[in-house]
Amino acid sequence: MTTILGIETSCDDTAAAVVRDGRVDRSNVVSSQLDLHAQFGGIFPELASRAHVESISAVVNRAMDEADVCYQQLDAIAVTQGPGLIGSLLVGINFAKGLALATDKPLLGVNHLEGHVYSLLLEPNDAKIDFPVVVLIVSGGHSELVLITGHGEYRRLGGTIDDAAGEAFDKVGRTLGLPFPGGPAIERAAQNGDAATYSFPIAKTDSPYDFSFSGLKTAVLRQVTVQPAGHGQRKRRRGAEKRAQLRGDIDIADVAAAFQDAVTEALARATLKAACHYHCSEIFLSGGVSANQMLRHKLREQSRLPVRFPPLALCTDNAAMIAAAAHYRYCAGHRSGLDFEARSSWRLSAETYSE
Ligand code: KG4
Ligand code: ZN
Repeated sequence: MTTILGIETSCDDTAAAVVRDGRVDRSNVVSSQLDLHAQFGGIFPELASRAHVESISAVVNRAMDEADVCYQQLDAIAVTQGPGLIGSLLVGINFAKGLALATDKPLLGVNHLEGHVYSLLLEPNDAKIDFPVVVLIVSGGHSELVLITGHGEYRRLGGTIDDAAGEAFDKVGRTLGLPFPGGPAIERAAQNGDAATYSFPIAKTDSPYDFSFSGLKTAVLRQVTVQPAGHGQRKRRRGAEKRAQLRGDIDIADVAAAFQDAVTEALARATLKAACHYHCSEIFLSGGVSANQMLRHKLREQSRLPVRFPPLALCTDNAAMIAAAAHYRYCAGHRSGLDFEARSSWRLSAETYSE
């Protein structure tokens, strides 16, 4: 039996949770910074770390209060070590280190992507896994396809070679003039659209388990915006989607539907191929983009295997998933020293905890 406090500050959510046995979240507090970043149409890293500094203490106190536990009752404190925005990560890590030192509790640095995997095991009935499984982790910062052969045993099969899937949703959302984050806004708009109206490309990559979304993003941009003089040659610069003017004859719902169809098709294809090739018994789907109903539907429709995804509230970043991942590491004897460093880039693979 373990009781673990998890802390997550890798991006724009300040989160803390107390989790019992890696399954039941006794508390799960998330303080979102969405309102702060919405005006910029994306995450503003410096603002994110400042907002973490302002709210972390209150968020952790609230998680402890709601769980009705005191620090003496904790077995360990877990914190996201990476990947993520370095300034944001450092706020959570330094807070957790101070807390571990003051309370004399073991500390565990957790990989954020591993957290997304364990978000799938938080519900009391979900804890059993019949390995091997393939997991597609898709969020604003990551699109990773990983084979899991046992608790903590990962083999990275592939991932995006440019934009993450959520990032593509956010950028196309901005092009279409939809609110940030683009994922849920595009999904809502797509409900009234016809995906067959436009045909957007699904990029071919060298590996069947890699994705590429930057060409798709550009294809949408070209399709829906008025091209300024000289566009497409030397004058095209990064961020052009911010300034481009939408064509008057564009039906945003149709574009949203066609774009969503292309992204989810690419993700589903690679995942199903991996599940088949590696004789998996189940498909896992997690991360912010796993909230997308079209993606869930495609995986379920096209696979005979069970497809597991988190409840909507646990798809996006939270600290319960960090505490849940830490439970399995804690039980396997894993501990981090007080000197561990934030890792802004950190893949989930066989080497994740041994490098
Ligand atoms: O996991 P998450 O909260 O943060 C990161 O670790 O990045 O994921 C946020 C991302 C955003 O890019 C957002 O647009 C996307 O998840 N997202 C969605 C949906 N809900 C959130 N994308 C597509 N469909 C959705 N329903
Ligand atoms: Zn995440």
